[in-house]
This record gives sequence, C-alpha cells and structure tokens, in this order.
Amino acid sequence: MNSAPGKLILAGEHAVVYAQPALAIPIAALRASVVAEPAPSGAGMTVHAPDLGLVWRLRATAPLSDLAQRTLDYLQLPEPDLRLTISSSIPIASGMGSGAAVGAALVRALAEQAGQQLAAHVISDLVYQSEKAFHGTPSGIDNTVVAYEQPILFQRQAHGEPLIAPLAVGKQWHFVVADSGIASETKAVVGDLRQRWLADQEPYNVQFAAIGSLVRQIQAALASNAGPAFGQLLSQNHQLLQTLGVSCSKLDQLVQAALEAGAWGAKMSGAGWGGIMLALVSAERASHVQQQLRAAGAVQTWQTSLLPTDSKR
Ligand code: MEV
Repeated sequence: MNSAPGKLILAGEHAVVYAQPALAIPIAALRASVVAEPAPSGAGMTVHAPDLGLVWRLRATAPLSDLAQRTLDYLQLPEPDLRLTISSSIPIASGMGSGAAVGAALVRALAEQAGQQLAAHVISDLVYQSEKAFHGTPSGIDNTVVAYEQPILFQRQAHGEPLIAPLAVGKQWHFVVADSGIASETKAVVGDLRQRWLADQEPYNVQFAAIGSLVRQIQAALASNAGPAFGQLLSQNHQLLQTLGVSCSKLDQLVQAALEAGAWGAKMSGAGWGGIMLALVSAERASHVQQQLRAAGAVQTWQTSLLPTDSKR
C-alpha cells in the first residue's frame, strides 16, 4: 500500500502564491492510500474510489488520469493492466491537501509497479505539474509537504526551483483542527484573489509582504517554547487573511470560539471561504477547545501535534 499524509498550512497561505514564504506541516493521522492489484490482460488501468463512488478508466478525463499518464511517461512504462483502489481519511475540499495526498500515493503506487522508489522531489514535481494543469496557479506548497512528509518552509523563487527548508520545532506543540463543513475549492478562492490582484496589485502586494514578514516571525516562534507569543502571531495571520477576503463568517466564528475557549491563537488554514481552521493550544486546553469548537458548529475536529526537532534525531 502506498500512502501520503494530509497537511496543514500553518501560516502564509495565499501570499505563498505571490512568492512569499509559507509554513506547512503534515498530519500523519489523516492519510490517502492507493492499493494496486493486477487486472486481466488488456483491461488497462482503472481507478476505483469506493469512498467517492467513482470508477474511471485511465484515459477518461480526470485530474488523476493526467497524473497517472505523466507518471507512466516519467517511468517509461506502457499503460499496465492494473486496478488502483484509492481510499482516504482526509476530508475533501477542506484545505487539508486531499488532492495532493491522493496524487502522491498514486505516483508511489505506479512507481512500485516499475520496481522504483521515487525521491520526494520527483513525486512532488509530478503532482505539481498535474495540479498546475487542472487547478490554475498553485504555489506548489501542498504537493511539497505531502511528498516530503515533514514540516517545511516553502517559497517560490523568481527563477528555478522553490526554496524548501525543514522547520525547527522548539517543543511539542498541540493543535486543534476544526472543519467548518463548508466545502471550498482552492482553485476558486485562489482564482478570485488573482482577479482582484490583477485589477489593483499594489494594496495586495503590501498585504502579501505583511504576511511574509509574519511568517518569518512564526517560523522563529515555532522554534521557541513561547506558546502565547506563537499563538498571537497565528491570530494576526488570520486577521490579514480576513482583510484579503478569503475567510468567511463560519471560519471567523470558529476562530473566535477557539480564542474564547483559551487557545493561544487561531486562524483559518488553507484556501479559505470554508474548509478548516486551526488553533494552537496547551496540552491541557486541547479537549476543552475541541468541545467548544464543536459547540460553535464545527462538523469535525481533530487534535494533532508537532514533536520537537531534537526528539527525532
Ligand atoms: C492551499 O493549501 C494554499 C494556497 O496558498 C494555495 C496554494 O498555495 O497553491 C491557498
């Protein structure tokens, strides 16, 4: 079985599309996986997603078919006779990287058929090329964090490869994540912001730069052990995202509920207009914040934590 995790954007979403740095972490507990089984000779490749009620042939028009073809081309494989079954515990259209994780798992499954184990940057690039073809102007952060499976700083460069740097984590940090229950397509939110930016770039560039400098402070806070200061920076990032017009009233309510329940800080995460928010909490507060988020209308909540960098050495 080949799998990839979901992800959280900790800080810097949207501004990252405009070459500012952003921080992302994998959520190991939520995963997408792809099981590849031989199919009768001549059957070609079919993709089954029983959770979604979907079955399609490789050549049917679908983003995954495009990715599968790109991967087969890269591996120099003809279309195999294969039944690929996708399953995922990552909520769809919620900002948790479901599409990128399914994509990375699919690439791994096809590479396994060729007896190859692909490097993270190759998997990431294949998923990115396919996302670009179908999802407008993605920054590349989603495919990167799910393929690398570690906390990263990601920044597009004017020329060449993006900067990808592992993040230092100062202590075990606890997060509560809540799903607003409002499905939101990244492409729509990113596309809307791009239209507004194209019409009047200067004020948006100022906002993006403000988010970028906040991201640098959040990177330092993550490496420290100062919860309240870290939390405040995350909440400031939420305010800038509100100003950019990518939050929504339900996300704002959930952020407020988390803060009232004693979270150190809270923000929407991912593309916005729905999807998820996250709260930075002390270990003791986690369950209370989770309960209050449910009471405030979250349809699903999770706890996830980040381990200090030293503990993994
Ligand atoms: C989506 O997870 C993050 C966005 O910044 C879009 C992107 O970076 O491609 C909203």
